[in-house]
Amino acid sequence: MPIEDLFENPLVAKHLPVGVRHQLERFGEHLSLLTEMRNPRVLRRIGPSAVRGLILKQGVRDEPARIVSAHETIIDWQLRSDSPELQALYQKAKRLQWNGATDLDWSINVEPESNENALLPDDFLAWDHFESLGLHMTLKDRRHRLHQVLGWMLSQFLHGEQGALMAAAQVTECVPFTDGKFYGATQVVDEARHVEVFHRYLETKLGATFPINDNLFTIIDSLLRDSRWDMKFLGMQIMVEGLALGAFSMLHKLTKEPLLRELLRRVIHDEARHVSYGVHALKHVYTREFSENERREREDWAFEVALLMRNRFRVHELYESDFQQMMTRRQWNEMVDRSPGMRAFRTTMFSRLVPNLREIGLLTDRILPHYKRVGLAQYMNGRSATQIEAEDLVR
Ligand SMILES: [Fe+2]
Ligand SMILES: [Fe+2]
Repeated sequence: MPIEDLFENPLVAKHLPVGVRHQLERFGEHLSLLTEMRNPRVLRRIGPSAVRGLILKQGVRDEPARIVSAHETIIDWQLRSDSPELQALYQKAKRLQWNGATDLDWSINVEPESNENALLPDDFLAWDHFESLGLHMTLKDRRHRLHQVLGWMLSQFLHGEQGALMAAAQVTECVPFTDGKFYGATQVVDEARHVEVFHRYLETKLGATFPINDNLFTIIDSLLRDSRWDMKFLGMQIMVEGLALGAFSMLHKLTKEPLLRELLRRVIHDEARHVSYGVHALKHVYTREFSENERREREDWAFEVALLMRNRFRVHELYESDFQQMMTRRQWNEMVDRSPGMRAFRTTMFSRLVPNLREIGLLTDRILPHYKRVGLAQYMNGRSATQIEAEDLVR
């Protein structure tokens, strides 16, 4: 019996103190995640990061994280240039730079819980689920909760952007091709700007910030420590940024708040380049240069990370701060899974990610049945990052 089922038993739920029940529920969820991993090499790679992120909760500590990385810095003194695609992307990135401090209208007044310019649509969460648990939510309560959900979401964007800033700097050092280093340097600037604008928006407009989600911490910790350049690419450029690009475009579609819309529109243009960079850089590497064993390990790693993001990205930080007295973790998960807004996010995020995995050769017949099993194979035939323009994502 999965450990979570135990807490549905009214006797157990009644007699356990909330804090203890919550710790056990969390532990059970994490344990099932680690025991589900099929490839021992993947478990060996992600395991230590998962212990740091999920069990020790290092992401929520007050002091800065210190992450030791063991990658090689590669310098080609001959400056061999052999990728016209990345050279073109570098030129484009220089042309399209913008200034987060002056190109956005920060004088716009944001009222997070007012009727006008709603941050999120009213039916974003499954309110009937709260009602069925005896929790009545007035319109005012709902607006307040949506404000918090957006704060949670933008906080995760912000933390992901910080991870991307560090990953882009590492990638610039360890990528073996010169054009990739030039392009990577522009991404470092892009990510710094994204950290700047999300941070400013959260601090000065929204006033609702949340710590980094344990699963996001685990992925960032794992890829920053990995010594292999392609894993940093796969983890950050393809997985984290691919999902983020889907999330940004969905939020751009849903929100009516004009400053956030313009901020997201600009960030989406940058992120579309970043994901393209990942696809260009890895396209031939996995299918032509790597051994089948090496490629398989990446294929399994990508699947496990996709699962980690799909199953675990459930606003638990808000649950832990406000709702754990009122419902079990499973009831919360059910509410999130049934919420129209969260479902839309999930669909868009994976419809952006899965085609990129196909494009770089990590969605073969070997792994496809697993994607089918968890309902992610439906996105297989969508357009990849190199087949889609940023304008399509904000239209
Ligand atoms: Fe970014
Ligand atoms: Fe990015």
